[in-house]
Amino acid sequence: MEVLSVASEVFPLIKTGGLADVAGALPFAMKPHGVRMRTLMPGYPTVMQKIVKPQVIGGFDNLFGSPASILAVDHDGLDLLVLDAPHLFDRDGGPYVDTTGRDYPDNFRRFAALSLAAAEIAGGLLPSWKPDLVHVHDWQAALTPVYMRFGPAYAVPTVLTIHNIAFQGQFGPDIFAELALPPEAFSMSYVEYFGDVGFLKGGLQTASAITTVSPSYAQEILTPEFGMGFEGLLTSRLSSLSGIVNGIDTDVWDPQTDRHIAETYSATSLKKREANRKALSAHFGFDTAPGPIFCVVSRLTWQKGMDVLAEVIDDIVHNGGKLAVLGSGDPALESAFIAAAARYPGRVGMAVGYNEPLSHLMQAGADAILIPSRFEPCGLTQLYGLRYGCVPIVAHTGGLADTIIDANEAALSAKVATGFQFSPVSAASLRQALRRAFTAYRQPKLWARLQAQGMKSDVSWDMSAHRYADLYSSLLAKG
Ligand code: ADP
Ligand code: GLC
Repeated sequence: MEVLSVASEVFPLIKTGGLADVAGALPFAMKPHGVRMRTLMPGYPTVMQKIVKPQVIGGFDNLFGSPASILAVDHDGLDLLVLDAPHLFDRDGGPYVDTTGRDYPDNFRRFAALSLAAAEIAGGLLPSWKPDLVHVHDWQAALTPVYMRFGPAYAVPTVLTIHNIAFQGQFGPDIFAELALPPEAFSMSYVEYFGDVGFLKGGLQTASAITTVSPSYAQEILTPEFGMGFEGLLTSRLSSLSGIVNGIDTDVWDPQTDRHIAETYSATSLKKREANRKALSAHFGFDTAPGPIFCVVSRLTWQKGMDVLAEVIDDIVHNGGKLAVLGSGDPALESAFIAAAARYPGRVGMAVGYNEPLSHLMQAGADAILIPSRFEPCGLTQLYGLRYGCVPIVAHTGGLADTIIDANEAALSAKVATGFQFSPVSAASLRQALRRAFTAYRQPKLWARLQAQGMKSDVSWDMSAHRYADLYSSLLAKG
């Protein structure tokens, strides 16, 4: 089966969050299921710099104002199709925002172009290849099934995966004229959304199947609290909606071979984590007092509950714990953690920015990872935590609820507990979870068991790749 995956970020070429990890890992996960997945992504400057000897295999004389090419290249086993359109993607700044952090004003054009290119590929643009099915990710690729509906690829099945329904790609009605869609597409059944143009809206209406990245989140987004306005539309498409939990790339994230950590280890040599703990402590200037090290590796946003975490820093320190934070985002939150680090030198450390190698050392060296998200479609850092023996302390929501088994009495006696869950997301309930974690940490045997049980959890893509393969097959069978 030939599948075109379409994503606005793909690890290891460009990453701002979990979407990139998933888009980068899925092709490898699907291979054993007889799926050849090629991934279409924008040719941002960092992508163009990293790829070696790309081949032009197709193109457009005029894609939203200028010519553009489709490049094919193998990047460490990833079969990439890169949309080389300098007028849209050759920018300083990130994939979505400029150097000052503002959305590019033409994001609608940039990602409509990505979607249109995908639809054209599905419709036979490339002389050398045509997919049987198209799998698109998030709002940036969500116009693909809309374009397909009105072009030669109208019969090719599509899957739209929602990684985060908070990002919807909504733009004023005036941009519609530029999208090169027929007038009827500006209606309720397609992209029209409360008078605006909605990219995700259009995709949710038209994709053959909709998935999201955990079963719990698939349920949650049917409610006003989590659906962010799409609960009605999703309910109308209930029979086409499912939740498939993300896996992780167990080669990139493997404590037995990880090149970013001070000493490699496995579930049977947990003592070797000590070298990583030391390296992490040195990085953050921690003192040598005993007590658990909690870590955070996260975008610093309201979604991630970072304001709630900031409220409990004093408790962590007063109970003898330490806190290492790696993240960037909301300036007020960055300042709160920087201030806490200044208040508690040797106890609280803050690394502002994005640092992939350090994120590995944090999982290998900290005792526990804190994830107090208000909502979390799947979450990957708790899965890395499981794999690295860094015990996850998570909010009971979305994929966090689906992947962590709370250390309650029943789970402890059945020897299946892997972390701590709390609910609701409030300082009081996070404090309570921290109290439970401190108590467990003081019992080294119990703590080691939690770590070992986590390390035994299946965080690979195996099960989920099966589910995607089944979904693809069922859509193809429907014809
Ligand atoms: P989201 O995609 O909502 O940000 P996920 O948990 O799915 O959340 O994925 C986040 C990914 O980004 C993980 O791979 C995590 O390790 C990584 N990450 C987040 N912040 C940083 C950072 N400051 N430095 C390095 N990696 C980070
Ligand atoms: C989104 C979600 C996160 C999920 C990731 C990958 O960024 O916020 O929960 O793990 O996508 O699916």
